[in-house]
Amino acid sequence: MVNMTQATPALSVVGVRIAFKGRDGLRMVASDVSFEMRPRARVSLIGESGAGKTVTALALCGLLDTHPGLISGQVILNGADLYSGLSRISREVANNGSVRIEKSSWKFQRMLNKQVRPVARKGIGLVFQEAKETLDPMRTVGDQLMDALRAGGSEKSRQEIEERARFLVRRLGFARGDEVLQAFPHELSGGMAQRIGIALALAAGPEVLIADEPTSALDAILQKQVADLLLDLHKEGNWALLMITHNLRLAEYLAETILVMYRGRVVEVLPAKLLGSRDEPLHPYTEQLRDASIELVGNHFGARSPNGAESHGLGHPTPYDPSTAVMKSPCPFLERCPRRNQLPAAKRDLCEKEVPSFRAASKSAGHWVRCWLFEEQ
Ligand SMILES: Nc1ncnc2c1ncn2[C@@H]1O[C@H](COP(=O)(O)OP(=O)(O)O)[C@@H](O)[C@H]1O
Ligand code: SF4
Ligand SMILES: [Mg+2]
Repeated sequence: MVNMTQATPALSVVGVRIAFKGRDGLRMVASDVSFEMRPRARVSLIGESGAGKTVTALALCGLLDTHPGLISGQVILNGADLYSGLSRISREVANNGSVRIEKSSWKFQRMLNKQVRPVARKGIGLVFQEAKETLDPMRTVGDQLMDALRAGGSEKSRQEIEERARFLVRRLGFARGDEVLQAFPHELSGGMAQRIGIALALAAGPEVLIADEPTSALDAILQKQVADLLLDLHKEGNWALLMITHNLRLAEYLAETILVMYRGRVVEVLPAKLLGSRDEPLHPYTEQLRDASIELVGNHFGARSPNGAESHGLGHPTPYDPSTAVMKSPCPFLERCPRRNQLPAAKRDLCEKEVPSFRAASKSAGHWVRCWLFEEQ
């Protein structure tokens, strides 16, 4: 596992695998996902649509009922092993030592309900792209916020809870806080709903806030406002942020550390400031993402311009076809990799045969790459 911190982590994810059962058998959508987040860390998980970002986030919270698929691995939240005992209610299948849930899923359901979700609900706050859809349409924002504060348990009396709710909506930047508290979800604009979603997710005092594309449905100005709000709240709070996004600029803006996911595998972990680097080795997929981002938004990283780009001959990223998302080879990027031919012939075969392990990149601390190109480093 990539050890991103010396401190006791707020969240450790160890070898998590998730698969869904399809017509052709089990379809792996997250494979050996491992990372750690120290308390108050800011981490962005990036990758194209269908990479497995959301299923991973849902699994961390016990919200993914994968029956009759497959789930294995450890999720340790502030020292508590959420899926502890999973191996007792599962049986090993031959494929890569993965664990398949028994045919009768009631034990797994019971584990989710009694063991995983109660701990995750307190320890992990979740914000989704459409926060409005997660609000109860029949109840006011104030009632829902007060419920969430009550669940956190730090404010005891009704008066304390009401005061805290008023403070929170003011802190979210609403000038007319009382009106917002009395509003029903359908009365909120998209930007307002996202801010309320963040307040609800933080109300119970979680160790980790997972924000899954929270600004993707917003225009650029609102995106920036919500991102700045997250940063401000993070400075004041005591929680770690896991930002899930396909937007590299946003990922870099919000995080110190970037996890790059491709077809269910984390292929690179790097300090955010290196995302635009020319000098550091980057995974061929990260390079494609970065170059595509530069072509779309200009030379934001100051690395090189799209015209006259001095790349590794990467060209344009191949369009992603989710129907081919079943991992057939150890390196998930094999079919699209433009740099495999840079490997000596003997090593080139490895891309098809063995999963590359994480290697520390030589120049910067906290930079890990999973690719045979960096094996020697
Ligand atoms: N309930 C489900 N049943 C079967 N396949 C699913 C289910 N949920 C997600 N998937 C598949 O898992 C893969 C990863 O999805 P997701 O995590 O939503 O991607 P991302 O969030 O990175 O865009 C996709 O190929 C998606 O089709
Ligand atoms: S392991 Fe091989 S195929 Fe995969 S990204 Fe690296 S060079 Fe390309
Ligand atoms: Mg998603």
